[in-house]
Amino acid sequence: MSADATFKPKMLGIICNWCCYGGADLCGVSRFQYPTYIRLIRVMCSGRVDLKFIFRAFLTGQDAVFVGGCHINDCHYNPEGNYDAYSMATFCKKLLEHIGINPKRLRLEWVSAGEGIRFAHIMNDFSREIEELGPLGSSEGIDRDELKSRLEQMARLIPYFKLAKMKELALHDHDETAYAKLFTTEEVERLIREAPTYYIDPGKCQACMTCARKCPVDAIISAKGQVHVIDQDKCIKCGTCFEVCPSKFRAVTKLVGQPAPPPLPVDQRTVIRKGREQTA
Ligand code: FES
Repeated sequence: MSADATFKPKMLGIICNWCCYGGADLCGVSRFQYPTYIRLIRVMCSGRVDLKFIFRAFLTGQDAVFVGGCHINDCHYNPEGNYDAYSMATFCKKLLEHIGINPKRLRLEWVSAGEGIRFAHIMNDFSREIEELGPLGSSEGIDRDELKSRLEQMARLIPYFKLAKMKELALHDHDETAYAKLFTTEEVERLIREAPTYYIDPGKCQACMTCARKCPVDAIISAKGQVHVIDQDKCIKCGTCFEVCPSKFRAVTKLVGQPAPPPLPVDQRTVIRKGREQTA
């Protein structure tokens, strides 16, 4: 039970247009009550809810996030988006658990447009649960700065997670028990432990710009005649730079389980051309 009986959580619901939003609407017109501190955002399908949305919600102060979609096999899109929501939420709960956040703060439910009473029941039940849990972070024993840093760190890894677990995240199995088995705690720990870091060796880089041109997120700081540097805050760990660096240079290194060495100061980035080095 939360130490503060007056605690009113901030809760966000992201709900699909075709079913859950209809259920919320019916709940409203039927005058079924649920706490006013739950704010709703409508998306076209629960499959639209990205991992990034959940982490952003927690980073911006929400104590809990609700995702609502159509019942299984009722999604209005093909392929059905609620299966994507299912695997995303299952994975997200494991990630939250990994950083010490109670996974109950994320809840996924299916509500049809005719289930106004069910919508109210879920909202009341979830809000009671979160009121009992208390504020995000402090009730888990994590201070504000630490919480922010853990959430940001995890949010930065989302593109890597999506690439590494693309197959599992795209599981469309009509048997709901398949989702519970998708991600084990050990698997998630290994995935995080083995997240790669890419580094451009300043002694090998010839400033050919190939990696800078191919990087999908413009994470390579480059200039003509200047050793290239990866902006680690922007890097999504896709490995494109590693793959496209010409084999005659092999300047990009993949590091696992260790951070990249600090980048060269800007005034020391002039490229020493291969060949000239020996003749100098
Ligand atoms: Fe409702 Fe896809 S349209 S979950």
